[in-house]
Formats: sequence, C-alpha cells, structure tokens
Amino acid sequence: MRYDLIVKGGTVVTPSDSYKADIGIRNRKIAVIGELEKAEGEVVDAKGMHVVPGGIDVHTHFDMPFMGATTADDFATGSLSAVCGGTTSIVDFAIQTRGKSLMHGLEDWHKRAQGKSLVDYGFHMIIVDLPENRVKEMDEVVREGSPTFKLFMAYPGIFMSDDATIFRAMMRTRENGGTICMHAENGGVIEVLVKKALAEGKIDPKYHALTRPMTAEAEATGRAIALAEMAGVPLYIVHLSAGDAMEKVRDARARGLPVYAETCPQYLYLNYDDYERPDFEGAKFVMSPPLRPKGNEDRLWNGLRQNWLQVVSTDHCSFCMKDGVGGKPGKVLGKKDFSKIPNGAPGVETRLPLLWDAVQAGKLTENRFVEITAASPAKIMGLYPKKGLIAPGADADLVVIDSKKKHTISAKTHHANVDYNPYEGRVVRCSIKEVMVRGRRVVKDYKPLATPPHGSFVKRDARSN
Ligand code: URP
Ligand code: ZN
Ligand code: ZN
Repeated sequence: MRYDLIVKGGTVVTPSDSYKADIGIRNRKIAVIGELEKAEGEVVDAKGMHVVPGGIDVHTHFDMPFMGATTADDFATGSLSAVCGGTTSIVDFAIQTRGKSLMHGLEDWHKRAQGKSLVDYGFHMIIVDLPENRVKEMDEVVREGSPTFKLFMAYPGIFMSDDATIFRAMMRTRENGGTICMHAENGGVIEVLVKKALAEGKIDPKYHALTRPMTAEAEATGRAIALAEMAGVPLYIVHLSAGDAMEKVRDARARGLPVYAETCPQYLYLNYDDYERPDFEGAKFVMSPPLRPKGNEDRLWNGLRQNWLQVVSTDHCSFCMKDGVGGKPGKVLGKKDFSKIPNGAPGVETRLPLLWDAVQAGKLTENRFVEITAASPAKIMGLYPKKGLIAPGADADLVVIDSKKKHTISAKTHHANVDYNPYEGRVVRCSIKEVMVRGRRVVKDYKPLATPPHGSFVKRDARSN
C-alpha cells in the first residue's frame, strides 16, 4: 500500500491513551493507524518520540490595531511562529468597526489572513457595538463559519459592552447556534482605579496589575455566567487568569451549565513579580487580565487537571519593546503612563513546548496535554472531528515531539516578529522535531521549509439546536 507520508515508529498520544503505531497519510488526511511494515511512501521518523495532534490555539491576535499600535505579528509572521511551535490551527479575532456591519469586519480579517497564513485558521467576531437593528447580522457570521462572538466587559470606550448589549447578543446566539466568548473584567471599576493611580503619579507598568484586581475578574466572570444562564447560551471565558474567577466557572459547571474557560501559559508560568523588573521591562508583561501574585498559578494548574479549565490558548498579541521594530510603535507608547502601554504579549510559539515541559515535570499527563491543546479546543470551537484528534479521516495535522532534546526559549531564535520573549532563557525539556499541516511537512528540527505551503480558512460548525 502506498501513502503520501508515513509517520513511523512514534508513540501516538490521544486524550485517553498512548500507544506505539505508524500513521499513514493520504490526500492530506490520516488514512490508517497501525503497523505499516510493508507500506511505501515518504517516511517521517518518529522513533523514540511522541506524536500528538497539531496544536489548536483558539486565541490569537495577528495584524490587530489596538491602543494606538498594531501588533508586531501579522498573519505571515504570526503563523510562522505558531507552526514552528507545533500549532497547526489558530482562531483569530476579527473586529467589527464601530458603526459598520459585522460582515464588514469579518471580510476585513479574511483579507488580512488570505495568502499569508501558514496554518489553518478561523475567526471569532469581536462585537464593538450592537444596536437592535444589527443583532440579526450575527446569524450570517455563524452561517459563514465563524460561530463564536467575543464581547468585552472591560476596555470602556474601545470594546466594552454594557449588560443589555451583552444580553441581546447572548439571546441571539442562543438562537443561531453560536457561543459567546467573554473578556471578563469589570471595566468600570478598573477605569476608576486607573484614574486614581495616575492622579497619584503612579505611572510604572506594575500599576497596570495593581489597578486590575482579581476580584474585578471574578465579579465579571460571575456576572457573565449569570447573563448566559438567563439567555440559555453556552459561554466560553477567554484568558482566565485568577483562581477566584476559575471557581465561578467550576461552580457553574457543577450546576450543569455549558460554561467553559481557557487559561494561557503566561498565567501558569509568570507572575506579578515580573512587573517589578527595572527600567520599564515590566511593560513586556502588560496584558489584560494581568499576571497574578505568586501562588495563583498553582490554583490554575489544579484547575487544568480537574477540568475546571478546559483549554490552554495563548492570547498571542505581540508589541515590540523598542519603537520602530518592523515600523510599528509598541510598548514605549506607555513609557510615561502605564495605561497607554499596548496590552498583550507573544506566546503562540511557546505554548506546546511549555506545556510538554509540564508533562515532563509531572504536572500534566501527556493525555491531558492533548486534551487541553487540541481535542478540547476543537470540540468547543466546532472543529472536531476534522481537527484535534489522531484518527482515520481526520486532517493530518501532526506534531512529533522529541523529549530527549532540550530547548532554550529566546527572542534570538523564535520566529515571531517581536523583539522579546516573555520566557527568555527558560529551558524546556523537549523540542519540536516535525510539524505537518494537513499532511504536508512544514517544520523540521524547529525550522520551517524554505517555501512553506499556506493554510486555509476553516469553517467551524455551529451547535445544532
Ligand atoms: O492584553 C490583551 N489580552 N490583549 C489582547 C486583547 C484581549 O483582550 O484579548
Ligand atoms: Zn480579551
Ligand atoms: Zn485576546
């Protein structure tokens, strides 16, 4: 039997088990899993290594204008960074322009990604304003394969929606089969605290964290859950950072509500102390929600093991520290006022290596790793069973991980277009050996092919009500 590609001799990891097998790929899909002694075809040697489903990062911001800046990574460099780190699909956030239709925003993001992305991609739709006569536009966005809407309870004047708008969007989403993604922080409270801090002359990056308390996240998370319960709609809390907020999700799930949450590696590996670094270095970590005090991360690790948190995504949103890199102003915009530091940090390339290192450290099983990086995001976001699993018929999105080789994370070697790495110098006990996107080899030994093939837009499924 002939295959286009055979991944040979690796340990295949699924959410439920791990076993030694070869994988035969034909027509860009997994054709067979088993012992392929006599099969013919180009071979990827995975002996002594693990084979996991391509990572699915359902929270990236590529080519995003935000807070007077534009992200350092567009779809070309962001997706290069993603694939070199073992992520083969992303879901990015298309943004509605205030006053314009949702479809206008979606089409804009299609133009930004098309012909640039090296990985498969989809879009969530960020709703900026939603008067009554605009609500029905949500249905078309769902039909076009983007059944998830992000709403903000923070960023007054930029993205923030009031409870009535949120509830209107939720009720429509209940009908059209979509899911609501929520940025849950109490924007009103934060605004008061920010103004007070600035009036007292507190301008350094650390005040970003000190004006965004955990309780502001927990309160908004609880309110989002209550609104979603009243509307009868599934809710997905994005970039959850605080243990207190996680417990709201845990309790809602225990009551049987369709509530899900993701956290991100920065909340598992970094903490408030990073804001105390001298010379404006804390700006590297200015993101929302902010990094939390040491100790909080243990609660999140536990939540990941208990399935109180279902997904780890990255919220990759890169801004350079030095002005002018790539011609784009970045973190220096907030040198004299922490509230003007563009919010966000890079991470799409380091998610899988950091979490596989957690497997090596005994914090997660390799099966749970597959669940939180691929299977569970695929299920929640309407990509399953096309993506997120290793099984005949699924897209041949595969990553070979070498656990014997160590890798030092650094901005000198990463593939993102940003001049720092939040995990600079951290050693992970693994390296990305091979990455295949729908059956095509794209990365070998952490290096991309000279002319890597492009990924495609993937329509995601809505719920069948
Ligand atoms: O700081 C962040 N998270 N920047 C990106 C925008 C968002 O809220 O996801
Ligand atoms: Zn957000
Ligand atoms: Zn984000």
